[in-house]
Amino acid sequence: MSDYKFSIEAENVNKIFLKKSQRVDALIDFNIKIEKGTIHGLLGPNGAGKSTFINILGGLVKKDSGNVKICGIDIDKDIKSSKFKIGIVPQELNIDPFFSPAELLELQAGLYGVPKRKRKTDEILENLKLTDQRNAYARTLSGGMRRRLLIGKALVHDPEIIVLDEPTAGVDIDIRTSVWNYIKSISKLGKTICLTTHYLEEAENLCDNITIINYGKKIIEGSKNELLRIISTKSASFVLTKDIKLPSELKEFKPILNNNILKLSYDKNQTNLKKIIDILIKNKIEFIEINTIEGDLEDVFIKVVNSNDPSN
Ligand SMILES: Nc1ncnc2c1ncn2[C@@H]1O[C@H](COP(=O)(O)OP(=O)(O)O)[C@@H](O)[C@H]1O
Ligand SMILES: [Mg+2]
Repeated sequence: MSDYKFSIEAENVNKIFLKKSQRVDALIDFNIKIEKGTIHGLLGPNGAGKSTFINILGGLVKKDSGNVKICGIDIDKDIKSSKFKIGIVPQELNIDPFFSPAELLELQAGLYGVPKRKRKTDEILENLKLTDQRNAYARTLSGGMRRRLLIGKALVHDPEIIVLDEPTAGVDIDIRTSVWNYIKSISKLGKTICLTTHYLEEAENLCDNITIINYGKKIIEGSKNELLRIISTKSASFVLTKDIKLPSELKEFKPILNNNILKLSYDKNQTNLKKIIDILIKNKIEFIEINTIEGDLEDVFIKVVNSNDPSN
């Protein structure tokens, strides 16, 4: 049981909600495998089913069917042990306003039965840069501080897996960067991280592996680099020194000529920039600058989400 490759393993998970007496399939035969020690992104638009899955992991939502294992423990057989393995940072900033950060962490540690001598309240506050706010009322904390305090609450029982549901939704850019850095530092301790996000930039910046979900269904899962490889289109813009007539050899690169800028697109698995430059030289097309653009996760996302949109 202690030997497991996947920190989280879910198979054929289904969940139906009734929303204003309408049936909502929040998860449909959902599968995911999260490798131990990795940062795994669960990526999808609003309403995709991300929080539903996270809440099933935390025992807050009951699945209708399927199997979920946390660190090899089946949550249906032993929810108590599985809960100790996982720390969940919820999407909502629900913090009791009349407690201080130190009190909240102590309370949480008490709930998990962590003995006083093993508590790490001050260490956690220090790591989250909340030492100055140690004894302040939580209601006086800024949004970013509350977010960090919620992360701290999820860490009191030193779980092996930390799950963050939309860790940076609605926070400022500079706070986002500090939350990212903190997530990376927890990951370096060997913890497994699962985070949900609808920000592609976040997934691209943090994650080793990514699962994309939409309308409750898994669309694609793989390493970040594998997903990036799916979109192999690159484009290159050449700044030309004078007007040109487009040679027919460039047709296959879908040329767009705008003033003195020539934009060409190509599949990097089929051709390379050198071949394109050779064609330009052969046709005596002079240029003073080249800019190339690689695809990013945004492109993967648009590609896979659009091709799986049931309304299409
Ligand atoms: N408690 C609930 N009651 C009814 N419908 C719900 C409930 N929780 C989630 N849903 C619905 O399930 C779908 C998935 O929601 P959610 O898992 O919160 O998506 P995400 O976190 O990806 O934005 C949505 O259509 C949402 O409205
Ligand atoms: Mg959500």
